[in-house]
Amino acid sequence: MRENLMDPPSDQAERDMMSWGDGTVSNELFVAAIESCPIGISISDATKPSMPLIYVNSAFLGITGYFLQEVVGNSLNFLNGPETDSEAVRRVAATLCMNEPVDAEVLQYRKDGVPFWCELRMTPLSQDGQIVALIGVHNDITEKRQQRMEDQRRQKLQALGQLAGGVAHEINNLLQPILTYSDLVLSGTDDPSTMRRMNRVVASAEKARDIVRGILRFSRGETAPASATALQPALIESLEFVRGLLPVTVAIVVRGLDSALGHARISEVELTQVLTNLLNNAAQAMGERGTITIEFEADNLEPQQALFLGMAPGRVCRVTVTDNGPGMDETTLAHVFDPFFTTKPLGQGTGLGLSVVYGIIQNWHGTISVTSLPGQGARFVFHIPCVAPNT
Ligand SMILES: Nc1ncnc2c1ncn2[C@@H]1O[C@H](COP(=O)(O)OP(=O)(O)O)[C@@H](O)[C@H]1O
Ligand SMILES: [Mg+2]
Repeated sequence: MRENLMDPPSDQAERDMMSWGDGTVSNELFVAAIESCPIGISISDATKPSMPLIYVNSAFLGITGYFLQEVVGNSLNFLNGPETDSEAVRRVAATLCMNEPVDAEVLQYRKDGVPFWCELRMTPLSQDGQIVALIGVHNDITEKRQQRMEDQRRQKLQALGQLAGGVAHEINNLLQPILTYSDLVLSGTDDPSTMRRMNRVVASAEKARDIVRGILRFSRGETAPASATALQPALIESLEFVRGLLPVTVAIVVRGLDSALGHARISEVELTQVLTNLLNNAAQAMGERGTITIEFEADNLEPQQALFLGMAPGRVCRVTVTDNGPGMDETTLAHVFDPFFTTKPLGQGTGLGLSVVYGIIQNWHGTISVTSLPGQGARFVFHIPCVAPNT
């Protein structure tokens, strides 16, 4: 190869490759360019009713996991599956029929069954007023989309937290006299019927107080006292407690729980609360049968990574909780941390678990995020900032 691209080409082969210099581009060069493109490209034959694919580039095969011979001859719809939005697919087809390009984001499926979010741009090519081919540009945006959802979620929860926190604070103030005066009435009577009634008042007020506390934790209004805590022993104890709550049919695999995790300014009670909620949810989602994997890692967040996570740079403990349950659809995923969001039947879920988890981790100046695709389990990742011992 030439050292300097401005030097004239030295041999014939290179001169052929440089043929754009005379205003023409060889077919080989076109194909090489499209093959080296990091975005999937497809061409479908629009003269046939089934619009079979006649060409896809290497990036398309990389995204979908298929071999070329498995793709060619199929209609592009072969990538769609049970959770693909059929309305979006219909809209794409209808726009193309009008000879117009169309953009869409659709959930598609790889050969191994793993879904991915595809950003699609389809452009019809016409000859003499007839659509002869469809050019597809396919981009796997699963990660980008999850990051976008994460950003939206952060903003929404901040606003929701302010509102909910204000209401919870007011209700909390009203609950205090209800509980105090009920106790006074109870201690001054031995009339069984008054006692029965007052006990019901107390029970209801206590339940309300628990809910309000959950909201206050979510909205960062209430924090448990925290001190520099050695993470390894605290996590071992928390996990032992949670293990006892879960049925034996749920296997728990723990990795990386060692002393390298260091210390963090947290409360052990809250740590247990976080793990209890995450593991309980995973166990319930899996129908109390399956495997939950918990991985612990010590890491050092570089400024760029920290910015991405919305945390300060420095040492962190990363905890990843993965289950092999049914996962979540987009709507559930968008709302998991919202207070009172639950998909469980009335009486089984309060929808407060994950909002409390979110609030606790925020109070630790950490972050939590979730990724999931339908049928692929769920993965919650949280980061806790580390501190020096005795601080
Ligand atoms: N591991 C998981 N797998 C699938 N769905 C989950 C998982 N964890 C949470 N969810 C979803 O998030 C919702 C909210 O969870 P949470 O705030 O703990 O409230 P609750 O458990 O009372 O419903 C659940 O109802 C469920 O739909
Ligand atoms: Mg829960």
